[in-house]
Amino acid sequence: MPAIIRTDDLCKYYVLGQEKVRALNHVNLEIERGQICCILGTSGSGKSTLLNQLAGLEKPTRGCVWIGKHNISKMSENDLALFRQRHVGFIFQSYNLFGTMTALENTAAPLLYRGIPRSVREKAAAKILREVGLGDRMRHLAGQMSGGQQQRVGIARAFVARPSIVFADEPTGNLDSRTTIEVMELLVHLSREHHITFILVTHDRELSAYADRIVTLKDGVVVGDEPNEPLIGRKEEAAGEENPFAPPADGGAPKETPPPGEEEDPLAPLRTAEEDENSPFAPPKEGGPEEAPPPGDGPAEAPGEAAGRETGSPAEAKNTEETGGS
Ligand SMILES: Nc1ncnc2c1ncn2[C@@H]1O[C@H](COP(=O)(O)OP(=O)(O)OP(=O)(O)O)[C@@H](O)[C@H]1O
Ligand SMILES: [Mg+2]
Repeated sequence: MPAIIRTDDLCKYYVLGQEKVRALNHVNLEIERGQICCILGTSGSGKSTLLNQLAGLEKPTRGCVWIGKHNISKMSENDLALFRQRHVGFIFQSYNLFGTMTALENTAAPLLYRGIPRSVREKAAAKILREVGLGDRMRHLAGQMSGGQQQRVGIARAFVARPSIVFADEPTGNLDSRTTIEVMELLVHLSREHHITFILVTHDRELSAYADRIVTLKDGVVVGDEPNEPLIGRKEEAAGEENPFAPPADGGAPKETPPPGEEEDPLAPLRTAEEDENSPFAPPKEGGPEEAPPPGDGPAEAPGEAAGRETGSPAEAKNTEETGGS
């Protein structure tokens, strides 16, 4: 299986007064396409920093990150924003939904930024909301939903555009233990079903049981990298590729029957051409992705970017990071 993500000697240092914090120190990783990879470590070990690097939310101090054939560390901020819109989904501990928008509107938002027509957006959002068990809550305001429901909306939003990679930073950190299991099963189910690479960051060793691989960080250094026999295996992959919205074979996640006539994937006609040309696996193009509207055409920022700022690092990093290195 080819690597979808590769880091080469990745370093991220922050300067705080006189002190240099080595948040990531010479990290070399390759993550396979379709893999569920858990990045495990105690608080301050560099997990979120690594996630932000892999997702292109921050620039490294040294080294680089490749996604497919693209060196994302060398992309301009504009190209990176477009690249993320197209290929990456995010899930955050604090959900980061727009509380005054409905579940449907929140879920459809990543498609809006990509200039996809409203009817298609809503169909795709409705379909994935049914898949996460919220078929009867689509018109509810996100701010009036329970934590578990909000995280399901967050998951639907992350997967709606069928990204190549979904990143989740402590996605169950605010949930009780029963809801944690439901959310983890749902995440694994969606990743397997749609053959999406899923990178999970957590301090909770129990959650790592869902992963195909466990990478352990300590003080910014990879101190462990082990394959793992996951709680939910890969057996559904073949069926999933033929019909991405086929119900799961082993009932890991909630199932809801779509209304007649809506079994097909609303995004399929748009995606086929995009996948060929803009997949991270396609040969790199001059100037990066071009077809999406420029960032100024949609709402001010993509959810991932708004979320990135709320969760800390990217904006602050600019003021504190060391500018040296290549
Ligand atoms: N923007 C920043 N400016 C300065 N230091 C930072 C910044 N972001 C992270 N750090 C430092 O880098 C180290 C790693 O932080 P990071 O947030 O990646 O840890 P973490 O493993 O995600 O921790 P937690 O489990 O608490 O979320 C810490 O020492 C942190 O203080
Ligand atoms: Mg963190």
